[in-house]
Amino acid sequence: MIGAFDSGLGGLSVLAAIARVLPRADLVYLADTAHVPYGDKTDDFIRGRVLAIGRHLVAAGCTTLVAACNTATAAAVQALRDDQPGIAVVGIEPGVKPAAVTSRSRRIAVLATESTASSARLKHLIDTHATGAGVFVQVEPCPGWATRVEMLQLDGPEFAAEVAARIAPLLDAGADRLVLGCTHYAFLADLLRPLVAGRAELVEVADAVAREVVRRAGTAAHGSGRIRLHATARPERLHAALPALGLGMLMPRIDGPALLIRHL
Ligand code: DGL
Repeated sequence: MIGAFDSGLGGLSVLAAIARVLPRADLVYLADTAHVPYGDKTDDFIRGRVLAIGRHLVAAGCTTLVAACNTATAAAVQALRDDQPGIAVVGIEPGVKPAAVTSRSRRIAVLATESTASSARLKHLIDTHATGAGVFVQVEPCPGWATRVEMLQLDGPEFAAEVAARIAPLLDAGADRLVLGCTHYAFLADLLRPLVAGRAELVEVADAVAREVVRRAGTAAHGSGRIRLHATARPERLHAALPALGLGMLMPRIDGPALLIRHL
């Protein structure tokens, strides 16, 4: 079984990509909805959550873990690998490399949570794949955006104006690639696309993560194709969120009601 997790709904964008390429894999998705958002929390707090979630998913039978959360990956993927030495652990990091390689203006921007934006891992990623290649990167923390997605408030004039105001300086400075460096932001793509049209492209890496999961999954790729949902609070919201987030195609694979995981 393959276990993917996030602070809340964002990682469903990664789960959907995994489900697409692994139609026979049994998947479990855990949303840490009792603690969402992670983006304004300390590294120690996030690390504690990630280790507890990893232990829960391994006890549930997972042999591959996917941190479907840039914030959790930046703060804790190494700690998770150290804690689960026998388990394949796949993380997600902002697509700085594909953005830098394809940028024509040699300027890109990364939209991320406050935690990811200030992380040493993102700095290293930028130094390795952009700065050294002569590509300038502006990192833009986007407080509140993940919470909007959690509330399934993906549009509305006030929020659209806030988003437009945040990205306008990036576009005006010449960025032609906007990296969605938080899995929640995949669900804001319909809002963002018209705002950047003709000036920049959005860069997401859920499909690349799914390909990495295929490489690492081994026997976990073969099962009966069911998907189980776990949440640390309000599990019923997960089901309701799937159609609202455009993921209704996952519904036939969902195995029973979402479980409330209290003890984490
Ligand atoms: N979805 C997460 C990420 O990819 C975290 C959002 C949050 O909880 O702040 O960074």
